[in-house]
Amino acid sequence: MVAVVAMARNRVIGDGSGLLWHLPADLKRVRALTMGCPLIMGRRTWDSIGRALPGRASIVMTRDGGWTGEGALRAATMDEALALARDWIDRTEGARPEIILFGGGEIYAAGLALTNRIELTIVEIDPDGGPAAAYFPALDPAIWDRQVLETVPADSAVPAHRYERLTRKTPVLV
Ligand SMILES: NC(=O)c1ccc[n+]([C@@H]2O[C@H](COP(=O)([O-])OP(=O)(O)OC[C@H]3O[C@@H](n4cnc5c(N)ncnc54)[C@H](OP(=O)(O)O)[C@@H]3O)[C@@H](O)[C@H]2O)c1
Repeated sequence: MVAVVAMARNRVIGDGSGLLWHLPADLKRVRALTMGCPLIMGRRTWDSIGRALPGRASIVMTRDGGWTGEGALRAATMDEALALARDWIDRTEGARPEIILFGGGEIYAAGLALTNRIELTIVEIDPDGGPAAAYFPALDPAIWDRQVLETVPADSAVPAHRYERLTRKTPVLV
């Protein structure tokens, strides 16, 4: 599984209902990283996006057995989400065999132990995420190899940010 995330320096990833920055280039990067893949996301992240993302499966984790979302697949547990993801890859022409851990905070925390790679955008700000702030879990450098891919300076429209790839030193099988 591959986690795709943008987080601030203070690990904040959102305020519970949306993002706290607008990085158009990062959204394009996320699209490229995830196209053709099943996405595992929490119900609040689904709500914040508001629709199924084209060319990908939207697997939404919720404890509400009656929940439905147009174009979404509901999963009650991470095991069920993984089974739906594998099944979607098997039956979808052109699918890529990568399962994306798509957030938010609760779902990153639930799935990180099953993740072998993290495509990380670090935004050089320290926002106050408010009472419902969501965070990306702290990463143990003993477990992850870190590679800085690109550093982007601030300009008038976007804060400085950088792209990093973290790879688990001892891969886990899912
Ligand atoms: N910066 C980024 O890269 C990024 C990426 C994604 C999201 N975000 C942000 O993150 C925030 C949302 O994160 P969040 O932590 O508040 O919510 P979340 O992880 O998106 O969703 C939480 C919901 O998922 C369901 N859930 C959680 N654990 C579960 C489990 N073990 N089994 C079954 N269902 C489970 C529950 O849904 P029910 O309440 O329906 O039971 C829970 O309320 C938003 O601000 C969003 O914009 C940022």
